[in-house]
Amino acid sequence: MIRLAIPSIEAQDLEAVRGTLESGFLVQGARVAEFERLLQEYIGVRHVIAVSNCTAALHLSLLAVGVRAGDLALVTTYSYVATANVIELCGAEPVFVDIEPDTFNMNPECLAVTLARLMANDETARRVKVILPVHTFGQMADMPAILEIANRYHLPVIEDAACALGARWQGRQAGTWGALGCFSFHPRKAITTGEGGAITTNDDALAHKLRALRNHGQDPDASAPDFIMPGFNYRLTEFQAALGVTQMEKLDRIIAARRSGAERYDGLLANSPVRPPVVANPAEHVYQSYVVLLPEAAAPMRQDLIQQLRSRGIETNIGTWHMPLTTFFRTRYGFRPGDFPVADAVFARSLTLPLHEALTEGEQDTVIEHLTVQLRRNV
Ligand SMILES: Cc1ncc(COP(=O)(O)O)c(C=O)c1O
Repeated sequence: MIRLAIPSIEAQDLEAVRGTLESGFLVQGARVAEFERLLQEYIGVRHVIAVSNCTAALHLSLLAVGVRAGDLALVTTYSYVATANVIELCGAEPVFVDIEPDTFNMNPECLAVTLARLMANDETARRVKVILPVHTFGQMADMPAILEIANRYHLPVIEDAACALGARWQGRQAGTWGALGCFSFHPRKAITTGEGGAITTNDDALAHKLRALRNHGQDPDASAPDFIMPGFNYRLTEFQAALGVTQMEKLDRIIAARRSGAERYDGLLANSPVRPPVVANPAEHVYQSYVVLLPEAAAPMRQDLIQQLRSRGIETNIGTWHMPLTTFFRTRYGFRPGDFPVADAVFARSLTLPLHEALTEGEQDTVIEHLTVQLRRNV
């Protein structure tokens, strides 16, 4: 099977995890601190708070900026459901913003229109608390435009950078633009700790609050344990962090391999009806996923196409989710097709192709060959 994703786990990773397990120190020790330091240096940010996964990172970030029951959070339509779930889990309500057809990221113009509408009404204006764009598939959203709109209304921005470690916009790293940035180390990301996540911030007070929130509310600066707020246990373990440390050593290598694989796919698709990913001019994409757009006529048989490719030994998948049209959000808020027309089209036509460090040129040729043949048969 040509797999969609394979994490880059090598002997040094296994040794690091084994060594940590043998040490008997499994939580809250030197490995977590080292992993945080490596991320901090790589991303170029004042604080990194490692947590158990990116869903936990997003949840704590919303709480840290003060999102509470009844509040409104502006969020992109097209993402993994965790991005919107955490808003609900704070008792708040997502206000979905449609995406750009080329980059699949939050459309700043739609954000401006939605915010202007909410802010024109006193009742909704006082409930709007945060903007949550996603750096979709490893390409950054247009953060200068989003921040300019956020600043008009003094709103904090939380970057969902789950897929975007190492991605940049105008040379500046994901996770350094908003008040907070949230990363994932799930096995489908560039580097993995199994499950794992991290929050970035340049704000000392937010970092202090986040460190307490991830650890039962314990004061991170007190010499003796003291509990200053109700908190969670959202900690990363030492053996996960040990894996994170060795994974960080190969992050640049992994990103380079993904970029060259993506470039090769782009070339193979050049004369086909399948649209390769579009990279915005100031963006440096890290291709957490290589997501193409199928021709419109192929959208109704996309699931068959995925099955046909699977039966030929090729693992593909949909892009990500149209969150407002998943059963929970659709039934809770009554969303319908047509409410977010760009997300409708992108959701129906997107297909993720295999991309990882071990993918060979021959395997890439096979993927494109079978995709093209099946499309010709289906459409
Ligand atoms: C955009 C986005 N946000 C959040 C998450 C949740 O990350 P985690 O699985 O680390 O909780 C994911 C996971 O795939 C994601 O793609």
